[in-house]
Amino acid sequence: MKNRQQLIKKYIDFFKTKAHKQIPNASLIPENDPTVLFTTAGMHPLVPYLLGQKHPQGKRLVNVQKCIRTQDINQVGDDFHLTFFEMLGNWSLGDYFKKQAIKYSFEFLTKILKIPKSKLTITCFKGDKDSPKDSESAKIWESIGISKSKIKFLSKQNNWWGPAGKTGPCGPDTEMFVNNCEIWNDVFMQYNKNKKGNYIPSKQKNVDTGMGVERTLAILNNKNSVYETETFLPIIQKIEHLSEKKYKENERTMRIIADHIKAGVMILNEGILPSNTEQGYVLRRLIRKAIMNLRKLGFVGTDLTKPIAEEVFKIYNDYKNLQKNKKQILKELDGEEERFGITLDKGLNIFNKLTKNKKQLSGKSAFLLYQSYGFPLEMTQELAKEKNIKVDRKEFEKEFNKHQKLSRTATAGRFKSGLADNSEQVTKLHTATHLLNQALREVLKKPDITQKGSNITSERLRFDFNFDRKLTPKEIKDVEQLINQKIKQSIPVIKQEMNLEQAKKQEAQGVFENKYGNKVSVYSIGNFSKEICAGPHVKNTKELGHFRIIKEESSSAGVRRIKAILK
Ligand code: ALA
Repeated sequence: MKNRQQLIKKYIDFFKTKAHKQIPNASLIPENDPTVLFTTAGMHPLVPYLLGQKHPQGKRLVNVQKCIRTQDINQVGDDFHLTFFEMLGNWSLGDYFKKQAIKYSFEFLTKILKIPKSKLTITCFKGDKDSPKDSESAKIWESIGISKSKIKFLSKQNNWWGPAGKTGPCGPDTEMFVNNCEIWNDVFMQYNKNKKGNYIPSKQKNVDTGMGVERTLAILNNKNSVYETETFLPIIQKIEHLSEKKYKENERTMRIIADHIKAGVMILNEGILPSNTEQGYVLRRLIRKAIMNLRKLGFVGTDLTKPIAEEVFKIYNDYKNLQKNKKQILKELDGEEERFGITLDKGLNIFNKLTKNKKQLSGKSAFLLYQSYGFPLEMTQELAKEKNIKVDRKEFEKEFNKHQKLSRTATAGRFKSGLADNSEQVTKLHTATHLLNQALREVLKKPDITQKGSNITSERLRFDFNFDRKLTPKEIKDVEQLINQKIKQSIPVIKQEMNLEQAKKQEAQGVFENKYGNKVSVYSIGNFSKEICAGPHVKNTKELGHFRIIKEESSSAGVRRIKAILK
C-alpha cells in the first residue's frame, strides 16, 4: 500500500473498525474563528468539542484534513516542510486516553502499514514546571515492544502541542519517527492554557493525533523527501519539462515553485482572491514568490503558472469542488500573474538601481517596492540575499504600519489572541449572523439567498451572501429593524441534534456541499430562523443588545458583504 488515496482509506477504515466516526474534511478557512487565518491542523474545527461541547458524531472521530501552515514557509524547500499538506487524524473527546491511543498508532504503523518495529523511534515529554515528565507514555511504548534506547525525552519545544493560538487545549505529546522523519504525533490534551499563560488541567482529557500524508508516503515509498512522492512528482516533472532544467540541479527552486503553486490553488479553491490583507495577502505572496522562482529558472513572459497548476488538479482528483472550480481558479491565477507582470520588470529595475554598490537596502525602499511594485517583503529579501544585501526589516515594518495601521493590526491580532475565540461577544455576533441571514431573505424577498462566507471578530460580524446589486438605504434600515424586533421579542435559541436528512427536510439553512457529517446540530430561533451550525450561540435573542449595519459593499461578482455590530 503505497498510494495516497489508499493510505487515506486505510487510515480511516482502520479507525472505523475501532468505533470512530468519519468527519468531513473542513474548509481551509476556519469558520467563525477570527483568531487564525488558516486551518493548520485537523483539530482546528474541533476546538469547541475539545473544550467540552458535545460532538453530534460522538466521542471518537477520524478524518483527513487539508491544512495550510505559513509559519514553516522559510523551511519550504527542505525535505519535509510544506505550506499545504494533508493530515490524517483520530480523536478521543474525553473517551480513551494514552494507552489506547498509543496502541492504535502502533497497530496501524506496524500491522497495516507494515513498518518494522525496529525502524520506529519515539519521543516523549521530559517534564517541566507546568507538567510532569510523561513516563506513562514511555512505559506504554515499552510494554508493546519498543526498546528503552529508542525512546527519547525532550522538552516542551519538541514534545508539547498547542494551543494553536494563544489560549486553548494543549498538552504533552509523543511523536513517532521513521528514518529521522516525524510522521505521527499523538497529543494528550489534558490542559487549557489561559490568557495569563497558565496551564490549567482540563475537565475533559482528549487525544488529538496528526499523521502527515506526504511524509508517510515518502517513508512507505523509500523516498528521501515529500517532493518525490506522487503528491509532488508530477508538478516537479512538469517544471523540469517546461524549463528544460534538471530537478537535481535546481532542487530548492523547483520545490518552492511546486509548493507555492499547489498551496495557491488550494486557497483559491476556498473562494479567496489575491489581495493585500489577510488570507488574500498570503495567497498573493505565494503566487508572486512562485513567479519570481520561475524567473530564476529562466522563464519569461506570462502564462507560466497555469500549466504547472494543471498538475495539482490531477493529483487531487478526489477533491470534487476543486475540479468544479478549476476554470475559475486558473483564471484567477492568470489574473494575478498578469497584475504582477505589469509591475515586475519595472520593480526589478528599481530594485537594481536601489541596490547598486550597496550593502543595505533601507526599509523605506523596501516599502516603495512593496507599495508601488507589489513586491512582498520576503521577495525583496530573497532578491537582496542573492546580492548579499541586508534589508532593514524594522524600518519596513514601521513604514508599513504607518500606511496600513488598521488592516495590519487586525491581521496581527488574529495571531495574537487565542484559537477559538468563544468569548461572549463573538457568541452574540454569531447568533446575530443567523438573524441577518434570514432577515436578508425576507427583506430582499429572495428565498435563495445563502451564506457565501462568514467571519466574526469580537468587534464585528462579516457576512457574505449572493445578491447582485447594492442594497438601498431603505433595505438596510428594514433589515436592521427586523433584526432588532426579533431581539426585542426575547426569542429562545434552541439547539437540536438530528441527522442531515432530517435537517434538510426541515429546510434548515446550510452549505450542503459535502461539509457535514451524518449527524448535525440545528439551531432554531423561534419560527424565524433554522440553521445547521456548530455554535456556540446565546440562549435568548434578548442578550444581543442593538444590531447595526456599518458597511454594505461588493465582495466579488454577485456577492455582497455586510459588516455589522452589536451595541
Ligand atoms: N495537532 C497535532 C499536530 O498538528 C496532532 O501535530
